[in-house]
This record gives sequence, structure tokens and C-alpha cells, in this order.
Amino acid sequence: MGILEVSNVNKRFGGLQALDDVNLNVEEGTVHAIIGPNGAGKSTLLNCFIGKLVPDTGTVTFDGHSLLGIKAHEINQLGVSRVFQHQKFFLNLMFLKNVMIPCFAKRDGAFELNALRGISKEVDIKENAEQMLIDVDMIDKRNDHSASLSRGDKRRLEMAMCLAQDPKLPPA
Ligand SMILES: Nc1ncnc2c1ncn2[C@@H]1O[C@H](COP(=O)(O)OP(=O)(O)OP(=O)(O)O)[C@@H](O)[C@H]1O
Ligand SMILES: [Mg+2]
Repeated sequence: MGILEVSNVNKRFGGLQALDDVNLNVEEGTVHAIIGPNGAGKSTLLNCFIGKLVPDTGTVTFDGHSLLGIKAHEINQLGVSRVFQHQKFFLNLMFLKNVMIPCFAKRDGAFELNALRGISKEVDIKENAEQMLIDVDMIDKRNDHSASLSRGDKRRLEMAMCLAQDPKLPPA
């Protein structure tokens, strides 16, 4: 039994069948790629893994839990994390603070923006985030404004944000 099991997933947008009976079985510790031309349905499929979309039919099971009908932050707490096609983080924060946010969410199960000032003083969260920046070879840019990073470095920032949650199903 795989850590991620996708069975007979269908998703339709009006007259367009975006996902047509998709089946996928991902074993823990293996690497998989979803490839296809523009509009093939790759993002639609990933969105069905994180609660952003709900398939019309079929099942998505992660580590024995159905991912259908539960909220994105609950799926994240089960150990799923992802990066997005269109980058999503706080452009107005420095690099390190963007990585501190998922460290905080991992520890406490939730994050509210108004907690940011408080967490910036928390040593364990900061150390955890700094370790992630070392892991993605970006520690020198810890105090850079996130908006000023190159596109490649922004992707590294997102990878650090994902890995900070120690996911069972990390993004590739
Ligand atoms: N929310 C939506 N409403 C209507 N149609 C949608 C919606 N999301 C996706 N589609 C359509 O579903 C199809 C699959 O889109 P999707 O974004 O999953 O493709 P993709 O493989 O990720 O493409 P790309 O390589 O361009 O990122 C496309 O025809 C797209 O226009
Ligand atoms: Mg896409």
C-alpha cells in the first residue's frame, strides 16, 4: 500500500473533463513526476491532493487518511506540503521570516498573521528556520527582502518553507 493512493479520480469543469479516471500509487521514499502538455490537468490533480479542489468521483488517500472533504491545513498537518506553480509567500517579509511561518505552523498546528511579531522573538523557531536555509544553501540571504530574490531563489525559499514542516510527502 502506497503513502499516496489515487483511485479513479475524475474532475470536470463544465464541459471540460480535466481529470479522466486518474490512478496513482506513490510508495514512501520514491520520487514521482507528473508530466504533460499545458492544460493536461497536472495542477488540477495536485489541487485535489491539498483540498483546493474536490474530485467529482474517486478517492485520494494519504497515509491511510482520505484527503477528500478535509481542509488544507488539516491535510498539511497529516504531512503533505507543496509548492505552487505561481509562487506564494509574503513578498514584503525577509527570507528568514517566510521560513519561520511554516516552522511555527508545524509546531502549533496553525498560524495567524498577527502572531508574526511574537514568533520573530522565539529562538527555537528561528533556529529551525535557519537550519532550513542552510539546507537549501541560502543562509547568506536570510535577511534579504523576499521580493528582491531571483526566480530561482524564490523557488528555493518555497522549498525551504515546505521542508520546514518535515513533510511525509514533500514537493519535488
Ligand atoms: N477552476 C477552473 N475552472 C475551469 N477550468 C479549469 C479550472 N482549472 C483548470 N481548468 C482547465 O482544466 C484544464 C487542466 O488545467 P490545469 O491547470 O490542471 O493544467 P496543467 O497541466 O497544470 O497545465 P500547465 O502546464 O499550463 O500548468 C485546462 O483546460 C484548464 O483550462
Ligand atoms: Mg499547471
